[in-house]
Amino acid sequence: MTAISHRLHAITGSEDDGWGVHYRAQAMKRAGEPVILLSVGDHDFTTDPAIVEACKASLDAGQHHYSPVTGTAELREAVAKRIEASTGVPTTPDQTIICPGGQAGLFACSMLALEPDDRGVIVEPYYATYAQTIKAAGGVPVCVPTAPENGFQPDAMAIAEAVNPNTRMILINSPQNPSGVVYTRDTLEGIADVCREDDVWLVSDEVYESQVYEGEHISPRALDGMADRTLVIGSMSKSHAMTGWRVGWVVGPEPAIAALTDLFLTMTYGMASFIQEAALVGLNEGAAGETRIAALYRRRRDVALRALGASKKLRVHRPAAAMYLLIDVRAVCADGAAFANALLDAEKIGVMPGESFGASAAGHIRIALTVEDDALADACTRLARFADEWNPA
Ligand SMILES: Cc1ncc(COP(=O)(O)O)c(C=O)c1O
Repeated sequence: MTAISHRLHAITGSEDDGWGVHYRAQAMKRAGEPVILLSVGDHDFTTDPAIVEACKASLDAGQHHYSPVTGTAELREAVAKRIEASTGVPTTPDQTIICPGGQAGLFACSMLALEPDDRGVIVEPYYATYAQTIKAAGGVPVCVPTAPENGFQPDAMAIAEAVNPNTRMILINSPQNPSGVVYTRDTLEGIADVCREDDVWLVSDEVYESQVYEGEHISPRALDGMADRTLVIGSMSKSHAMTGWRVGWVVGPEPAIAALTDLFLTMTYGMASFIQEAALVGLNEGAAGETRIAALYRRRRDVALRALGASKKLRVHRPAAAMYLLIDVRAVCADGAAFANALLDAEKIGVMPGESFGASAAGHIRIALTVEDDALADACTRLARFADEWNPA
């Protein structure tokens, strides 16, 4: 076959990144086994009917045509208002661009920030696509570990040490997947200092901003002198249960958004108008829908914490945010993937090995809170018992 570029080979490496357990769980489920899937961050419920109806109405009204590459004026306006309200920083529609999900925003920001071989710093544990996104732009991911003992709160000094003259971006994620940690103001101020001193972009993935249960979400865009060097990534996937609709955005300085517009011109050529009209209804309905979804995950978090609390072996990191629980299984098994595979075989529960999120989460597993309370409590009770009775052959 004719050669595939090195760039694509770099992102489609063959090493098992932890998805192996998930794919096996899915295959078992398809084959009719009673598998409970707690491996992916997708809701077990559908999008608010008002949003769905808006989409249908838009289609019926003939919104079948190209739309502006940047996103519709109305949706950009709504995003600008949302970001202005949460950061206190004046934000105009020209500082926003709508894109197909936060993931497209992550990709676009790496393309914007990195020259070939430039370094992009990421903090462990990280969302599973981060390293590949940087590699896709020809960059080199540099990981900064965090410690379970410190609740995975990053140390700005360690981030500063990872930065060298070839570093062009730092990518952070607060509230965080998989740990549920919310970065403190001190942490963010420390990271902002590094960005200002070394003149690097701060890419701030805030797709879980609406699901905060303890502490306060602070966007680094709100910090002194940071609006000009921060690229905020947002999405309606988690906040509005719209994973499949693919609606996200990037907010940043106008010249950066103009550059991203050229990038999306060559790639997506805009998004569907009927999706954007529906998304607008979601953003304009106020906080009610998002608050309802956040309350549901908070309740499930507490259900899972109660059931897992029965274990003498598991150490559960109490998440302050988001829709996951990161569980330390090192007291029974140093290898999160081995534990996840054994759990799948014995209890038919599918979870993600911590190793998929970087070495700092080795010996952990992540569960997504994506089943109803009773099923979740049952799965967590069985998980706790399985860990406590762990006795590998
Ligand atoms: C931290 C984080 N960022 C980005 C994404 C991508 O979300 P989407 O592309 O659906 O907006 C996810 C999805 O799970 C995530 O967990």
